Amino acid sequence: MDNRPIGVFDSGLGGLTAMRTLERLLPEENLIYFGDSRNAPYGTRTVEEIRALGLANAGFLAGQGVKAILVACGTVSSNAMELLRARFPLLFVSVLEAPCAEAVQSTRTGRVAVAATEATIKAGAFDRCLRELDASGRLTVFSKACQSLVRAVEAGHTRPEDPEAARAVAAELAPIRDFAPDTLLLACTHFPLMEDAIRAYLGDGPRLISVGDAAAAALSAQLRTLGLERRGGPGWRRYCTSGEPETFSRLAAGFLGHTITAERQVPQDG
Ligand code: DGL
Repeated sequence: MDNRPIGVFDSGLGGLTAMRTLERLLPEENLIYFGDSRNAPYGTRTVEEIRALGLANAGFLAGQGVKAILVACGTVSSNAMELLRARFPLLFVSVLEAPCAEAVQSTRTGRVAVAATEATIKAGAFDRCLRELDASGRLTVFSKACQSLVRAVEAGHTRPEDPEAARAVAAELAPIRDFAPDTLLLACTHFPLMEDAIRAYLGDGPRLISVGDAAAAALSAQLRTLGLERRGGPGWRRYCTSGEPETFSRLAAGFLGHTITAERQVPQDG
């Protein structure tokens, strides 16, 4: 048993996809979310910048006394995990391994698509991880940067009936629809916030895997295996943002399904 909180971070709202699943799976855990909206998007940044931001965010959460950190950001998960694990003696879970394992298990046709940020696609980590896990060598992987979807989500354009959301989804996902995958990894945690718009565009065909959901389930399983769960009644939740707390709270509440009061926090550089 370990009563310390769990930290979760992302460049902004995207990591809430993982947070929402943690809230459901681990009602007794204390959870701290940090959304670095001030520095979003991460996906257009250099590897050095992404690493520095990842270190600063993990440092902030480590300073809150967490026992584990869920890196709810595909961009940081693809570019900085080794560094984070070397720097902080904490349990780290990325959005890379568990979601890729789920995709490999789930595909029937072997056609797997990866939609992510520019920096994630450039790093190639999802592609590599999928191929390493694919014992049969039958996978055909198609990876596509869909950076403008991050902007759409941060601006609150997520619903299929919102013309800006529908336009962004169609512009970014057309090559993925042409590829006809049976499994689509939403490898940027912002993208499941547009799941209905993505589903409306792609139809019922592909299975959509939210990397934040899969990683949250993996963290929950690891806490159990390691005996690090908290016991003692309902846990508390804290939401922090380096951006505008009111805007963050309003957009987050729409997705989480309950109101929140975010607090402003600005971590020191890593
Ligand atoms: N949600 C993040 C990810 O999963 C970052 C998106 C961005 O800020 O570009 O990659």
